[in-house]
Amino acid sequence: MERVLILNGSPRAPRSNSKRYGEIFAACYGENAEICPVTRGNHQELRDKLDGVSHLLFVFPLYADAIPVPLLDFLKFLEDHPPQKRPAVSVLINCGFLEPQQNEIALEMMRLFCRQNRYPFASSLSIGSGEAILNSPFRFLAARKIKRFARSIARGTPQTLSVTMPLTKKWFVAASTSYWVKYGARWGTTQAQMQTMEIQ
Ligand SMILES: Cc1cc2nc3c(=O)[nH]c(=O)nc-3n(C[C@H](O)[C@H](O)[C@H](O)COP(=O)(O)O)c2cc1C
Repeated sequence: MERVLILNGSPRAPRSNSKRYGEIFAACYGENAEICPVTRGNHQELRDKLDGVSHLLFVFPLYADAIPVPLLDFLKFLEDHPPQKRPAVSVLINCGFLEPQQNEIALEMMRLFCRQNRYPFASSLSIGSGEAILNSPFRFLAARKIKRFARSIARGTPQTLSVTMPLTKKWFVAASTSYWVKYGARWGTTQAQMQTMEIQ
């Protein structure tokens, strides 16, 4: 089976949902998968690892409808320091909103990067409600789709996949608002404070 390098492009990599998605993928894919976070200081190290793999999987969150800056920085580094042999690239994006289509622009950016830098593009998995789905009764839907995604990479049969929680928008907004208000209260932060620009 082809060796896959999984790069976690979340700025909060050690505590991220992307880490959890990457781990589920690795469990489905088997021992030929290695997970590494993308950090400011490890670009060269990751670039060197690329020479030993045939497949590169980017796992990252949607930030402001696009790619998080630390991952963008790494992509810029790769443009200037390409590996000798380009691995095929797959992408797993998760976003906070319900609709997986929110990830389309970021996915297009990744496809453009691959076209311009001559990496064959393989499969994509777009996850909506990515902050919530793994802690919900619908976790199995995400796990099932990740398994299919891993199989498509292992078999070399590219697929474009997506998954989200099967809820109405109204229900999702009500449930997520209640979740975040309670979460804020645990830290002494009110809903009004969370709605200002001073909050991250
Ligand atoms: C700065 C910031 C920007 C975000 N922008 C979006 C966005 O544009 N659309 C969206 O659906 N979710 C957005 N989110 C939500 C994240 O994509 C979501 O919480 C995701 O699960 C985080 O994944 P991670 O834990 O792997 O970093 C944003 C989160 C942050 C912190």
